[in-house]
Amino acid sequence: MGLQAIILAAGEGTRMKSAKPKVLHEVLGKPIVRWVVDAAHEAGVEDVVCVLGHGREAVEPIVAGDARVAVQVEQRGTADAVAAAVPALAGATGSLLVLSGDCPLITPQTIAALAQARDEADAGVVVLTMKVDDPTGYGRIVRDAQGQVERIVEQKDCTPEQAQICECNSGFYCFDAELLFDALGKVDTNNAQGEFYLTDVIEIARKAGRAVVAYTADAAECLGVNTRVQLAAATKIMQRRINERHMLAGVTMLDPDTVWIGPDVTIDPDVEILPQVMLAGKTHIGTGTVVGPCSRLTDTTVGRNCTIDETVAIETTIDNDVDCGPRAYLRPQTHLCDGSKAGTHVEIKKSTIGKGSKVPHLSYIGDTTMGSGVNIGAGSITCNYDGVKKWPTTIGDDSFVGSDTMMVAPVNLGAHVLVGAGSVITQDVPDYALALGRARQVVKPDRNRPVDD
Ligand code: UD1
Ligand code: CA
Repeated sequence: MGLQAIILAAGEGTRMKSAKPKVLHEVLGKPIVRWVVDAAHEAGVEDVVCVLGHGREAVEPIVAGDARVAVQVEQRGTADAVAAAVPALAGATGSLLVLSGDCPLITPQTIAALAQARDEADAGVVVLTMKVDDPTGYGRIVRDAQGQVERIVEQKDCTPEQAQICECNSGFYCFDAELLFDALGKVDTNNAQGEFYLTDVIEIARKAGRAVVAYTADAAECLGVNTRVQLAAATKIMQRRINERHMLAGVTMLDPDTVWIGPDVTIDPDVEILPQVMLAGKTHIGTGTVVGPCSRLTDTTVGRNCTIDETVAIETTIDNDVDCGPRAYLRPQTHLCDGSKAGTHVEIKKSTIGKGSKVPHLSYIGDTTMGSGVNIGAGSITCNYDGVKKWPTTIGDDSFVGSDTMMVAPVNLGAHVLVGAGSVITQDVPDYALALGRARQVVKPDRNRPVDD
C-alpha cells in the first residue's frame, strides 16, 4: 500500500457564522478541504480518508472520487476524529499522515517532507511545528532539557510559562500507523475542554520509547481558517503565491494585489494583466494578450494577441487577435473567431462571431451564427426570444447590418447582404440583396413647431 492520509474535517466551524460547513468555504474558487485533498495527492498520497461530520452530505460530493469518507457522528475531539477513520485503514503499517482539513495553504512539498522525515528517523511521530509571534489558540510544543519534543499542551491547559512558548502545533502529523492505532485507545478526556486530544499521542509515543520529531514549516502554510478574517488572510496568501508563480513564468502584472487568479487557470508567457482582474475556473490566456483593467473571465479560453478590456466572459472561446470591450458581456457558448470584435456595451450569448466580424457598439447578439467579415451597426439586436422559446439567427459572410436593426428570429440573412439602418427584419434576406424594413420618412415643408405667443 502506498502512502495514506487522514484529513480531519468533521468540525462545525461555528466561528464562521455560516450555514455552510467551514471546509466548503472557498479560497480562490476552491473549497478549503479540496485544497488539502489536492495537496495530499500531489505529495504522493495514494489513499485519502476524509473524516466528515457536520454538513457531511454537502462535503462528501466535493471530495468524492479523490477520498474515501469516514463519519465522526459526534465531534468529541481530534483523537476521536482520527479513531473514526481507523476502521477504513485497518491493517495499515508504516507512515500515516494526519492533516487538518481547515488549512488550505499547506503545500505538497511539506506533506511529502513530513512523511520522509518519519521514514528516515523511524519516528513514532513527526509533528509539523511553526514559530509564531502570537501563539494564542494553538497547542504549544513543550521540549525537554535535551530539546526533544516532550508533549503538546493546548492553549486552555497551559501554565502561564507554557503560554509564553511561541513554537506551536500546526495540526499536521506523520505517525507510525501501528503506534497511532494503539495510542488512540490510551487518550482520555482529562483536559480543560473534556475532549479527546490527538496531541496526547505525542506524550504516549514518548513513554513508549518512540522518537518524536518536530519538523518546522513556514507559519503561513499552516494558517487555519476558523473565522472569515482568517479566510480573507488565507486567500490573500494564496493570491500572492499563485500570482508569483505566473509572474516568474513570464506574465506581467501591473498591480498583482488586485489580480485574483484561480488555481486551475493557465497563462502563457508575455501575457499582460492589468489591475482589477479575476480569472477563474479553467480559464486559459494565450501569449501576447492583454487582460484588463476590470475584467472577469470564468472557464474562458483566450488565444494570442487579444485585448480583453473591461470584459466579463463566462464559458467563452476567444480565438487570436480578438478585441473585446470596454464593457463586453460574453455569456456561455460564445465563440469569437480570429480577428473579430465584441465592442463596447455588447452582450453576446451562445453565438459564433466569424473571422474578422465586428459587433462594435451597444448590441445584443444571441443564438446567432455569423459568418466572416460581417459588420453589425451600432445598437443592432437579434430578437431571439418570443416570450416562450429562443430562436436562431444566421448572418452570411461579408454582410453589413445598418445601425439599430432588429433581426427578429428565426431569421436568415444571406452573404453580402446590406440592411438599411433602423430596419426591423422579419423575413429571410437572400445573398447580395438590400433589405429595408422601416417607415418611409415624411418631410413637410414649413411645418416646424408652432410658436406660442
Ligand atoms: C488543533 C490542535 C492544536 C493545533 C491546532 C492547529 C488538538 C487537540 N489541537 O486545535 O494543538 O495548534 O489544531 O490548527 O488537536 N475536528 C474533527 N472532529 C473533532 C474535532 C475537530 O474532525 O471532533 C477537525 C476540525 O474540523 C478541524 C481539525 O479537526 O479541521 C482541527 O480541529 P479544531 O477544533 O480546529 O482544533 P484546534 O482547536 O484548532
Ligand atoms: Ca483549527
